[in-house]
Amino acid sequence: MAIEIRYVDAPLGHQIGGVDLSKHLAEDDFREIEAAFDRYGVIVFRGQILTPEGQVDFSRRFGELEVFALSEFNHPTMSEILVVSNIVEDGRQIGMADAGRYWHSDMWYTAHPPRGSMLYALEVPTDGKQVFGDTMFASMSAAYDALPDRTKKLLEGRLATFSYARYLDHKRATLTTESRQGETAQGAREKYWFDDIQHPIVRIHPRSGRKCLYLSQGVISEISGLDRQQSEALVAELEAHVVKPEFVYRHKWRVGDVVMWDNCAAIHRAVADYSLPFRRHMHRTTIAESSAGPQAA
Ligand code: OGA
Ligand code: MN
Repeated sequence: MAIEIRYVDAPLGHQIGGVDLSKHLAEDDFREIEAAFDRYGVIVFRGQILTPEGQVDFSRRFGELEVFALSEFNHPTMSEILVVSNIVEDGRQIGMADAGRYWHSDMWYTAHPPRGSMLYALEVPTDGKQVFGDTMFASMSAAYDALPDRTKKLLEGRLATFSYARYLDHKRATLTTESRQGETAQGAREKYWFDDIQHPIVRIHPRSGRKCLYLSQGVISEISGLDRQQSEALVAELEAHVVKPEFVYRHKWRVGDVVMWDNCAAIHRAVADYSLPFRRHMHRTTIAESSAGPQAA
């Protein structure tokens, strides 16, 4: 099969054409796709028609899948699929309505965050003129490479404390009215608690070998060897650097899009610029990291 890779004007977000993901891909074709995924960090397929089984089958080619601990929004017949949606049916949210509305990488609160995630668009919010609910991605390897040498030196060997308490505070402070309503319906989610966890602020990608920043201003409470104030200032400065336009790809969704992101090479953010009656409906799968995950740089 002739797979084409279309370059975009960003370090990530390359479009892969000539592939029907509902069919079982030959090993060579899969390897080509996997190589593009490892190389760029975000890849996009358009015009796909995927059943939950089809999405899970394709996702599994990359490794074991994570099943989201908060089973409330797992797909009713396929627990490997997390439903991301603002739709309410019979008075009940069918999915997670407020997923990822801050710059983050998935499941940073775990000791071994997943290799990556895949989102498949079933419904995209639109008023008929424009499309809402874009997802933004920033390249953590391109952003690292572009840091001045003195900053690279400053970051050497440092650990960042990722804090669930800080995340909840940040989330409450930045909630929109719509997601505040969602929050009440989804109150159960807040019963979950994850202890603080440290990750290296610079990690080596296990497959590309590139150094990648690992941070999220919304959740890092401290950097080792720095006081709170210095930590705040450094994380704010680093995040402002990472989200510069030259490192960012903004995905405008169409129904049938499949977007995959690598959780080491990229962070992402959902743009919360829509609410009901504009419906958004996505299926997400989450690929666990292989035993040799990212290493401290
Ligand atoms: C996620 C996520 C972004 C989006 O599902 O992890 O961050 O645009 N989603 O829905
Ligand atoms: Mn996310």
